Amino acid sequence: MTQPLFDSAEFRQVCGHFPTGVTAVTAIAADGRVAALTVNSFTSVSLEPAKVLFCVATSSSSFPVLSVAERIAIHILRQDQEDVARRFATSGLTGENKLDGIAWSAGPDGVPLLPDTCAVLAGRTDQVITSGDHVIVLVDVDHVEHKPSSLPALSFYRGRFASPVGPGTVER
Ligand SMILES: Cc1cc2nc3c(=O)[nH]c(=O)nc-3n(C[C@H](O)[C@H](O)[C@H](O)COP(=O)(O)O)c2cc1C
Repeated sequence: MTQPLFDSAEFRQVCGHFPTGVTAVTAIAADGRVAALTVNSFTSVSLEPAKVLFCVATSSSSFPVLSVAERIAIHILRQDQEDVARRFATSGLTGENKLDGIAWSAGPDGVPLLPDTCAVLAGRTDQVITSGDHVIVLVDVDHVEHKPSSLPALSFYRGRFASPVGPGTVER
């Protein structure tokens, strides 16, 4: 591969021009270990069957749990849940530490579910594909929850939590 004329900081800055939503991902492994992290690399992949993906840095302390997770839940955060996004993005805390002091309940197979988010997609790992310094985690979704009347979603733009993403006028 040709050596790029930019470094990873510039690459991150360039990718940051793409506004995203913000999700809180939780996962549980067969041995009961839990992971919790903030993720904006979430996207839907397939409608039938229902599949989504997100990417995780292999350097993340959540990676060992996510790579063997029994069950994964992706929560689309509301604009007033920036505190959860910041907490779940704190390095040096275990998944259990990150969940300490915030409201959650045990979902299917014990995966932690957060209440009152815009939407939840939960399921089992389909594939974990290594690509560079991240893995792509594909999830087969078998459980969804959503609140069409919820507050707008939290968004992230150019390295900052940004103005909320609210409903527009065009339906897709
Ligand atoms: C808005 C936002 C989006 C993020 N998206 C991702 C992501 O898609 N993949 C990832 O690996 N880390 C992402 N991070 C960083 C992780 O949340 C953070 O490194 C991680 O939670 C640190 O804890 P850990 O090492 O215990 O996983 C994001 C952070 C923020 C604030």
